[in-house]
Amino acid sequence: MKEPEGNEIEVGFVDPDDASAIRRVRIGREASLLDAARAAGVGMDATCGARGRCRSCRCKILSGDVPPATMQDTLQLGHEEVRERFRLGCQTRPVTDCEIMALPPKSEAGHQILTGTNPMGGATPDESGFAIDSGVAKHVIHATPPREEHRQTSDLGQVLEALDIPVERQVPVSVMRKIPGELRKQRGELTVTTFNRRIVDVEAGDTSEHAYGMAFDIGTTSIVGTLLHLETGEEFAAVDSVNPQTVYGGDLMSRIAYAQFDEKKLVALRAKVLNAINGFVKEACRMAGVSRDHVYKIVVVGNTCMHHIFLGVDVTFVGLAPYAPAVSDGIVVPAGELPLKSAPHAQVCLLPIVAGFVGADTMACVLATRIYESEELRALVDIGTNGEVVMGSKDRLMACSAPAGPALEGAQIRHGMRGAMGAVEAVTIDDDVHCNVIGSARAIGICGSGLIDACAKMLGAGVLDGTGRLRTRDRERLPPALGARLRTAESGVEFVLVRDVDAGKNEAVTLTQGDIRQVQLAKSAIYSGIVLLQHVMGIGDDDLAELMLCGGFGNYINTESAVAIRLLPSVSLDRISYVGNAAHLGAQMALLSERERTRAEELAQRIEHVALAARPDFQDIFVDGMSFATSRAVEPKGAPVEPERLPTETSRPVESERTAVEPETASVGTQPRRRATG
Ligand code: FES
Repeated sequence: MKEPEGNEIEVGFVDPDDASAIRRVRIGREASLLDAARAAGVGMDATCGARGRCRSCRCKILSGDVPPATMQDTLQLGHEEVRERFRLGCQTRPVTDCEIMALPPKSEAGHQILTGTNPMGGATPDESGFAIDSGVAKHVIHATPPREEHRQTSDLGQVLEALDIPVERQVPVSVMRKIPGELRKQRGELTVTTFNRRIVDVEAGDTSEHAYGMAFDIGTTSIVGTLLHLETGEEFAAVDSVNPQTVYGGDLMSRIAYAQFDEKKLVALRAKVLNAINGFVKEACRMAGVSRDHVYKIVVVGNTCMHHIFLGVDVTFVGLAPYAPAVSDGIVVPAGELPLKSAPHAQVCLLPIVAGFVGADTMACVLATRIYESEELRALVDIGTNGEVVMGSKDRLMACSAPAGPALEGAQIRHGMRGAMGAVEAVTIDDDVHCNVIGSARAIGICGSGLIDACAKMLGAGVLDGTGRLRTRDRERLPPALGARLRTAESGVEFVLVRDVDAGKNEAVTLTQGDIRQVQLAKSAIYSGIVLLQHVMGIGDDDLAELMLCGGFGNYINTESAVAIRLLPSVSLDRISYVGNAAHLGAQMALLSERERTRAEELAQRIEHVALAARPDFQDIFVDGMSFATSRAVEPKGAPVEPERLPTETSRPVESERTAVEPETASVGTQPRRRATG
């Protein structure tokens, strides 16, 4: 696919009646397909005013990279159309040059999908099976204060009588405190808000239009959140930041080690995340111009460690064999109990956990990708410092976690850095080396996608051999410019990607032999997770209909390079897709639909957790996965595994107990890397 030139992207609109007639227009990177259609003079309606609440801007992406679907795409178009590359033009900002076909809405009924749903009456699923049913309902009633002195009722009794629907009679004390005043303010007109038939707020007047919720994905590295309208699904605001807990450690095991056996430190970690979420609720409501009092539901997903810290639950034993979570069921807790003071009337819902290292974020990914209803076998891979793999179909689902460590985030790499300005993100090698640098700046380091690409291209050019060794001995066989880039420094052999004169700092950006070993360890962990689940399920690469990459990192890697270095198995490239921040999308789905939230509970029971280290073939797979180029057939041992006999994880020591793995030996213990997640 043609990379866009500069800051502009070319969009071609194909005439639905004549595929040879294409109207092309160039747009800025921030522009949507709706903007492009307007600029090109192509008819594309925007009935809802580009708010993602109708289908009038529906279009099909014919070529070019498709951005992952938003919640609004999923709501309006359904999972099937999204999978077939249909998108809402107003919500889609293309990332490469593309050709699209603007299409009329399939039916005007589409507009009713959101607005016609009655949370109290039970939602009707749309054609994709998704219906808005957040569990939150607002009822406008007219109640009168008690009048009889002899046969006295109560203010609450009067409200319940006027409500005239079955609700729990127990109400929170905070609501009891409000009722006397609110009841007497506007001649008894009240809005009573319920969540799953429990009263959560009572306020004077008619506020029925205002019902909001927030979905949060708390990652080890970053936190993202969105404010959605609970009846329409419209996104009102989006917020994100680095997880402020990083001051206590960059990866998961550092956080666990910090808080282990020390309640005060757990409190400190917790305060960071609670403050952040409180701040996000305030910020999102301020941005959207809505009252925090009208935020009624908050869904939180995150890995087990983030989940436990958010709740203030001890994480000590998540870091010790058998690495079990303290609690794994889904949780609903009033915000005041946490406390999340910024949303006083909200119910906070946490999705269930599968295992100590397969957390609620993975459950959200399973929800969002609908892998659980797939007729064909699919795999879902989150490449992070702790990779998670889910594999299966509607018949059976398995999950494992793959401790890749932070190398692919640039840590433990001599010139490693996160994907920021000045990072080498892609590499081309012909007779010499050419690097793409983020921000078109001078290179100051290399990020994860650059590492994967560099290793693949060095392998292709013969700079690296299949074992991962830099070819210093026969460098004369390389083109002269490449051979000159192989050098021996004080710390050992290294390959110069960017010479010091071209770099943005006073030294060259290089890849050392040690860096390459770190990449091998990281990529082998992810690869081993995928291959081991294939072994357990008794399937090969060709049996996988799709390999879905999710999470922030998956967006940036060159999948061809990832397959070339065997970070991913040999699945044909057209079966590898990027599904975006599926954890956050899953959180949004659970926010808007109690059916989806309940489904997560059922799925968590169904998913079989496979502990890598306890599998007899793990070590062989891992050692084989260290290789870049060759694969010897590793015989499955003990596969397939019956669900009831799945092994338990028995050897995942925390950092302090860990035996260091010497990368150069390419040998592994039962646990190759320290456990961490992104
Ligand atoms: S204009 Fe309504 S969803 Fe795009």
